[in-house]
Amino acid sequence: MRTQVAIIGAGPAGLLLSHLLAADGVESVVLETRSREYVAARIRAGLLESSTVDVLAGCGLDGRLREQGLEHRGIYLQWPEERHHLDFVDLVGRSVWVYGQTEVTRDLVAARDAAGQQFVYEISDTALHDLDGDCPYVTYVDIDGREQRLDVDAIAGCDGSFGPSRKAIPSSVGRTWERTYPFAWFGILADVAPSTDELIYAWHAEGFALHSMRSESVSRLYLQVSPDTDPATWSDDQIWEALARRLGHGQNGWELHPGPITDRSVLPMRSYVYEPMRYGQLFLAGDAAHIVPPTGAKGLNLAVADVALLAPALAAMINKGDRGAADSYSDRALRRVALHALLVVDDDHAAHTRRRL
Ligand code: FAD
Ligand code: DHB
Repeated sequence: MRTQVAIIGAGPAGLLLSHLLAADGVESVVLETRSREYVAARIRAGLLESSTVDVLAGCGLDGRLREQGLEHRGIYLQWPEERHHLDFVDLVGRSVWVYGQTEVTRDLVAARDAAGQQFVYEISDTALHDLDGDCPYVTYVDIDGREQRLDVDAIAGCDGSFGPSRKAIPSSVGRTWERTYPFAWFGILADVAPSTDELIYAWHAEGFALHSMRSESVSRLYLQVSPDTDPATWSDDQIWEALARRLGHGQNGWELHPGPITDRSVLPMRSYVYEPMRYGQLFLAGDAAHIVPPTGAKGLNLAVADVALLAPALAAMINKGDRGAADSYSDRALRRVALHALLVVDDDHAAHTRRRL
């Protein structure tokens, strides 16, 4: 098979890239190890920054978001007995939107299906070849066990932190900054109306807690826990009691309303930045190049920001033979990533990165 761009990974980065490339007349094939249903159901990010909403609006993907998403002016920061509202709109003129990654994925898949995008789901043994030559290609085994080869002009590695793209770059070329934190977040999804109008980030002597949401009837909450916590060992009552204590149930008349827990998982806290985000004809985007802990709700937003830079760069390279934007892609994308990663990588590396930038 031949196409212009092989996109490895049907997460938000890969899906959005296929959409933006198509708008610029560039053809792509999206390759994905998981099934279509699995990709659609994954529960992950939930908070969209205004820059992400701008990108989605720019390509006509903000219809359901504006109808069903919840626009928030800011957040609450609290510690015991005190809750403060930070109004982003007053402070910086921008809002944030609560709209689940599952919904963003659904909108993207619907738009790509309507446009006839070629997806290949449930592949295995994805391998990247001849990245530093003019004729790169990807091989994989399809759902029926047949070996396949896809010849392309460029490969977009949008395959998350464990995918093969980053690993295909020779170790002599790349550098990583990494930090693993000694705590994790225990996240739950509950079928209950949020007990707050905007997100509450709470400091507490027992550990941090966050009250977020996915809609007017679904709450998303997090507790800081030790990374070896087994979520199955906590009863629902234990979870709600810990959340009530940390989020300040009863303070100034505020109440946390518990409800049926429909999903639970423990998320490790890790920061990881890889550079460069480009090697030959391979371009990395999203979690394939960088992981930030869930604390700042940045991962999905950074993935969208990468792709917003990458799509026009690939289109200029493929349509016009203009390699300028492709050549500067890695530096431009890393500048934004590093602004956030600097807050979380260790001080020596942060100082080094700051000097480089
Ligand atoms: P992914 O969404 O990881 O997509 C990569 C895709 O590549 C996957 O579909 C994967 O199956 C596929 N793939 C992997 N290997 C191969 C292969 N060999 N061949 C083909 N395909 C392959 N971010 C936030 O902003 N806010 C949050 O609140 C938040 N919460 C999170 C909670 C959880 C539990 C997790 C795991 C992440 C969370 N994140 C959050 C991060 C956010 O979800 C990611 O940053 C975002 O999904 C990145 O998108 P991506 O497309 O780069 O990668
Ligand atoms: C969510 C997660 C975060 O880390 C955050 O800062 C805000 C919201 C969420 O999953 O809803």
